[in-house]
Amino acid sequence: EEAAAAPVIVAKTDLGGGICEFTVRAPVVARAARAGQFVRVLPRPDGELIPLTLADWDADAGTIVLVVQGMGTSSLEINEMSVGEAFAGVAGPLGRPSEIHLHDEDSTVVMTAGGLGLPPVYPIMREHLAAGNHVTLISGFRSRELMFWTGEDERVGRLQARWGDRLDVVCTTNDGSFGVPGFVTGPLEELLEANRRGEGRPVAEVVTIGPPLMMRAVSDLTAPYAVPCVASLNSIMVDATGMCGACMVPVVEGGTLVRKHACIDGPEIDSHTIDWDKFLPRFRLFKDQERASMVAHGR
Ligand code: FES
Repeated sequence: EEAAAAPVIVAKTDLGGGICEFTVRAPVVARAARAGQFVRVLPRPDGELIPLTLADWDADAGTIVLVVQGMGTSSLEINEMSVGEAFAGVAGPLGRPSEIHLHDEDSTVVMTAGGLGLPPVYPIMREHLAAGNHVTLISGFRSRELMFWTGEDERVGRLQARWGDRLDVVCTTNDGSFGVPGFVTGPLEELLEANRRGEGRPVAEVVTIGPPLMMRAVSDLTAPYAVPCVASLNSIMVDATGMCGACMVPVVEGGTLVRKHACIDGPEIDSHTIDWDKFLPRFRLFKDQERASMVAHGR
């Protein structure tokens, strides 16, 4: 828990589509943060804990950045808060940091980020770039109006300005209103197919963060090409304490089915070990729980 300072909201930006970006005072977290980690936020003293991935941080300023989609009770509560207000508590950083390996200089690490997957992808790609890797970001949004962080003077644009030719950015929109029409899997498949013909930058690994169906599609696509793929399962965590069991992931290791907790063993899991057929139906349950929680809180 932050003992040094109350986690005051110092900036808030409405990113559209019910998504808000918060800069929050949390010097202890900001100093210790690593890519891929998350914090547990208690919006109000009588509220519910919610895990939120660190989208950015500034150790010198003592602040962290959280991007929140108003979907459940706690997240809607957070998105109603304003600059100057403080959360009841912020604990972290939690979760295992991303493993960053240095790859061949002609290869590329592909990040597939669906919608709200972009904020958690951002620190991971920044760390790959800082480590010396080439990165290809394939972002996916439903439409142009819902896009964020990809403009020239925004986070991804600033990374491009800084790292120049070591970062390729491909934008996709489901409705074709910007960039490549369709899903993140389109450009990824093109790249993998090019590799098969001995063309293009070889894909060293893929990181996927987004809606579960998208992550499965990316995982299934990479498997036949034998390209390692990591799925970050932050979005399925409920309390992130290891107690509620909501983040259980069926994983096959050495031929046996084991259960992992995204909040303890992850959030990153080798996507090719996940038993997606067993895993995906769980999301219906979460949605129901979320709805029940919202009904109970009169939303
Ligand atoms: Fe509850 Fe992991 S989120 S046990």
